[in-house]
Amino acid sequence: MENNTEKSKLDNKRKSSVNRRDFISKSALLGAGMAASPLVFANNYSSKELVKNHSPNPEKRKLGALEVSPIGLGCMSMKSGSYNPPRDKKDMIPVIRGAVDLGVTFFDTAEVYGPFTDEELVGEALAPMRDKVVIASKFGFDLTSGQRGGRNSKPEFIKQAVEGMLKRLRTDRIDLLYLHRLDPNVPVEDVAGTVKDLIKEGKALHFGLSEVSPATIRRAHAEQSVAAVQSEYSMIQRALENQVIDTCGELGIGFVPWGAVNRGFLGDKFNEYSRFSEDSRFAAVPYFTPEAIKVHMEVLVLVREWARKKDATPAQIALAWVMAQKPYIIPIPGTTKLHHMKENMGALDIKFTVSELKEFREALEKLPLVGVRGPETALVDQ
Ligand SMILES: NC(=O)c1ccc[n+]([C@@H]2O[C@H](COP(=O)([O-])OP(=O)(O)OC[C@H]3O[C@@H](n4cnc5c(N)ncnc54)[C@H](OP(=O)(O)O)[C@@H]3O)[C@@H](O)[C@H]2O)c1
Repeated sequence: MENNTEKSKLDNKRKSSVNRRDFISKSALLGAGMAASPLVFANNYSSKELVKNHSPNPEKRKLGALEVSPIGLGCMSMKSGSYNPPRDKKDMIPVIRGAVDLGVTFFDTAEVYGPFTDEELVGEALAPMRDKVVIASKFGFDLTSGQRGGRNSKPEFIKQAVEGMLKRLRTDRIDLLYLHRLDPNVPVEDVAGTVKDLIKEGKALHFGLSEVSPATIRRAHAEQSVAAVQSEYSMIQRALENQVIDTCGELGIGFVPWGAVNRGFLGDKFNEYSRFSEDSRFAAVPYFTPEAIKVHMEVLVLVREWARKKDATPAQIALAWVMAQKPYIIPIPGTTKLHHMKENMGALDIKFTVSELKEFREALEKLPLVGVRGPETALVDQ
């Protein structure tokens, strides 16, 4: 009974959310006298029942030896509010626990989110089901002032940081401990060696890297096996197709794309008239300038076309597309809304044939991109 009520609440929220987006995008276009533009597509996926119930036990994917749900939950924007105003803990705990009910076992955070507040939230939300989930967190910044400082991965500093992470996460082990950004003053072998010690002590179970080059992945992996590399990857941000993703495949490392729905853009959250205030996190992103958004609307149009073909939503297509690239890719879309998490899990129902993937790729490669990373940047630590 409770489940049915919850389902109907979610379905209603989902419908009203899509209708609101329809309204905003259409009114913006009409207001601008653009009704005849080729970019005007009614989001008619709203008329269908696209948010179905999914198995609470979806087939797992692997990050090295670590088994996780094929889609995780990015918890960055919750308490600290990176893409939205900070959300109240009482509203976010149900999102995280609701994700567990939907079959998500993989939760992503970092000590720098907040700093600290998102780890605290994740720790509190997952404490009752700690043994059923995989918690990933990241170190690498000097946060001693309470603000994000420079990079610091000196061994003693990492060990101290991990003590704080364990407390905030209310756990005795971090399932997947990532280096968030490489410290240019500390060889990656020293970082890997430190994590190796933490693994021996049982404080970390697996090692991950974020935004590093193929050469750094190899050096780190030689010292301590790497389970996952996490970096930005989506239909719009494809630089890491230059060797990074293949290096992971070759070494048996999982690849965790962040930004797979392109910070909401591929979830049809914005339109070509969307503008961001200077203090917004979006304002500093080169592919969210007015020019870039306008250009990338063509990618969104392509995604909407596939959404119609596959009886899906754009966010589901964006996620299914990254997952279809390699079996060891596990996206971690960030959301503050349980109905979006449910929608995102719907990506698991979408499969592409080899010829569909080829057709999709050919269409994508014809489309211009603005403000994205060039392929050469994949070979350099970020
Ligand atoms: N390693 C790194 O350096 C790094 C960097 C950035 C992020 N991350 C991690 O990766 C996670 C994901 O990355 P991200 O948050 O930057 O990018 P993302 O997942 O591409 O985008 C998140 C945004 O997409 C929206 N969204 C999610 N599902 C949607 C749907 N179905 N329909 C419409 N909009 C939807 C969310 O808004 P709503 O809240 O409205 O759903 C949110 O604003 C983060 O939470 C964080 O854990 C890691």
